[in-house]
Amino acid sequence: MTFDILNDKQVVAIVGNQFGDEGKGKFVDIFAEWANVIVRGTGGANAGHTIRLPDRRYALHLIPSGILYDGVGRINVIGSGVAFDPVVARRELQELAAAGISTSKLRIAYNAKLVLPQHLVMDRVGDGLGAAKRIGTTGRGIGPTYCDHYDRVGLITNDLLNPTLFRRKLEKNLEKKVALLRQFERDDVEKVMATLMDNGEPLRQFYCPDRIFDVDTITDYYTKVGQQLCDYLCDADAFVRTAVAQGQRVLLEGSQALLLSVDFGTYPYVTSTDCSVHGLAMGAGLRQGDIELTFGVTKAFYMSRVGGGPFPTEIGGTQSADWCSRPNLTQIAEQERFPDVTVNHEDAFHQGIAIRRAGVEYGTTTGRPRRVGWLDLPLLRFAARIHGPQVILSKVDVLNACDTIKICTSYRYHGPDFRFGREYLSRAERYDVAEPRDEILQHCQPVYEELPGWRCELTGCSEYRDLPAQLRTCIDFVEQRAGVKVAMISTGPERQQTITK
Ligand code: IMP
Repeated sequence: MTFDILNDKQVVAIVGNQFGDEGKGKFVDIFAEWANVIVRGTGGANAGHTIRLPDRRYALHLIPSGILYDGVGRINVIGSGVAFDPVVARRELQELAAAGISTSKLRIAYNAKLVLPQHLVMDRVGDGLGAAKRIGTTGRGIGPTYCDHYDRVGLITNDLLNPTLFRRKLEKNLEKKVALLRQFERDDVEKVMATLMDNGEPLRQFYCPDRIFDVDTITDYYTKVGQQLCDYLCDADAFVRTAVAQGQRVLLEGSQALLLSVDFGTYPYVTSTDCSVHGLAMGAGLRQGDIELTFGVTKAFYMSRVGGGPFPTEIGGTQSADWCSRPNLTQIAEQERFPDVTVNHEDAFHQGIAIRRAGVEYGTTTGRPRRVGWLDLPLLRFAARIHGPQVILSKVDVLNACDTIKICTSYRYHGPDFRFGREYLSRAERYDVAEPRDEILQHCQPVYEELPGWRCELTGCSEYRDLPAQLRTCIDFVEQRAGVKVAMISTGPERQQTITK
């Protein structure tokens, strides 16, 4: 596929404009054809990209999805900003090799932040046993890994290659954690240690009753994994900068999304990295000014969120949030409990379930049902301030059967009087641009406008003018009311189900 919009561009970023799972992977995969180098700069195995190629569906967590594009000579880079779980990486590399996909062009930053068993344990203990108000993390050790980095006790990928150094740094790293874990009931810690790692092995193998973590076993296990990854390690920052200096085309692949960014998102209900385009540039070894074009992928005309946190347009409100937070709730269990829901259901909670089902909104990483809500323009306006106006609308086909499309155009604040800098937020005040802070957003009630749905399949549409008039009206509405420019529209999971506007 060719895209005029990429003409004369050299460094392009694809990022999420909402709460993640906007379908960025499909566009990274499509633009991979254009790029010489594809870089992931943030996040870790908490991300999940599902890409459907003609032969099969691939779910990747850590390896950049550009790896699936079979062009010769295209380099995929895991940048220094990534929280790198070597065990997940090894497993994905093995799976790709088994599927006949070459990984010889993969590069991994020697200084990516290393995710180790203690990070998985701290994440699962910290957001489970100890937490009063759960963030609902993916349990992939992301928060504790970045904490260690800023606490100056983190390990990096290169440490995997040097057992003595690894062991020394590991011991230092474990000091505070062991002290903290001793405050929990031993049984509880053991239960967490019995949970699985991503390769299906229990963390228990790294447990030792007196010191909690068995330093020798961890060192031995991880440095062996390191030997298998050794050939991929390099100075990724320098590699990417050189590629840019040489005039190569570089595609930056965002993970998570703006509203989950620790710096721009709905704090504290965020991930622990800046997954905006700023963090992405830095984690890829570049400056934000190097990026010539940023696409903010935006689900339309609904959105989704996994885990806790404010979500003003959630369909079914707190009932939906509570339902989705049930432990071990799966797609199958939900289907059995609510077999007959439709996307036009009068009751919002049931309508939300039907939209989740139509959009297959169940986590790639965790299998959890994602909370779904209507498209929120105050949040999109905020996203456009950070990511710029270029937007890709994804998954528009999910609402094909909807009679009415509801779009949130502003909020009314219904919380207690709240001092915000020099201003006061007071009851019933109206807001057009969201301030994504939990203490504000949780009290914002959406004001909707309703537009008629298009109520047909989009299978025959290959050009913008082929799209039903009602759908084009919805797109115009979003462009005008949010001040964005829709560059592309995704009408289905396949590569060719993509329309340029
Ligand atoms: P963590 O990144 O595992 O620490 O989780 C922090 C928050 O970010 C939780 O609410 C997660 O559900 C959310 N999160 C992390 N990664 C993703 C993602 O790839 N898609 C959607 N939500 C995510």
